[in-house]
Amino acid sequence: MSGDQPAAVRFEGVSKSFGDHVVLDDVSFEIPAGSAFCILGRSGTGKSVTLKQVIGLIQPDSGRIFIHGQDITGMESRDLTEVRRKMGFLFQDAALFDSISVGENVAFPLRRHTDLPNHEVLARARAKLKDVGLEEAFGQMPSELSGGMRKRCGLARALALDPDIVLVDEPSAGLDPITSGEIDQLLIEQRREGVTLIVVTHNIPSARAIGDELALLHEGHLVAQGTADELDASREPIVQAFMRSRGT
Ligand SMILES: Nc1ncnc2c1ncn2[C@@H]1O[C@H](COP(=O)(O)OP(=O)(O)OP(=O)(O)O)[C@@H](O)[C@H]1O
Ligand SMILES: [Mg+2]
Repeated sequence: MSGDQPAAVRFEGVSKSFGDHVVLDDVSFEIPAGSAFCILGRSGTGKSVTLKQVIGLIQPDSGRIFIHGQDITGMESRDLTEVRRKMGFLFQDAALFDSISVGENVAFPLRRHTDLPNHEVLARARAKLKDVGLEEAFGQMPSELSGGMRKRCGLARALALDPDIVLVDEPSAGLDPITSGEIDQLLIEQRREGVTLIVVTHNIPSARAIGDELALLHEGHLVAQGTADELDASREPIVQAFMRSRGT
């Protein structure tokens, strides 16, 4: 997080509409490399759209998005694939491939993006599953996993290529507090190892535990950004309402 290192992610005046529905209106923020940034906001405020813009799956209508100082706005798909290779993402629904085993799910990005020999791919997939406490599930099918196990498998897959930036969309949704706490710990470990984290969550205790900074999206704008203590001290009613809630 030195001063001369470019931010891992920078949004500069990003706006995005779908039809006449303005989702993001001139949103700017910066996430220092190696820090953890939690995005909060009510349902439908554009949190997932924000994450999808970070990985270039959705392009902004205006504004610019920089990854490690590199402008990815309007970038060609081949270059974008290269940038994306350094990012791991866990979508809201874990999105595992149901027709292949848990181990092959984690191996998938390795097969797709590296030339590693099969035994090495499998060894790495196994190691990533071990990191999330799922080693024994290597040969199982995703349908045999619980919700929390699916999330952990999705996380192992997101981490398969040792990404610099990890994006996670609602890691604790639908999980009991203990399992959700375990996922938080896995994310905190990644952050400790120098990974930049962007976590979308409705779970305020999680955001407090994980985030160096929290940002609140509301009606197209980033209405607050700061440490949990700074947001706690905010006088904005919407910020207060969020910070005092227990989340889901
Ligand atoms: N590909 C798309 N085409 C059209 N509208 C979209 C598309 N993706 C998202 N939207 C709209 O953009 C708005 C923001 O969606 P988004 O998925 O980012 O919400 P969210 O903050 O992640 O909500 P939740 O907490 O429920 O996951 C919603 O109104 C949604 O319907
Ligand atoms: Mg969402």
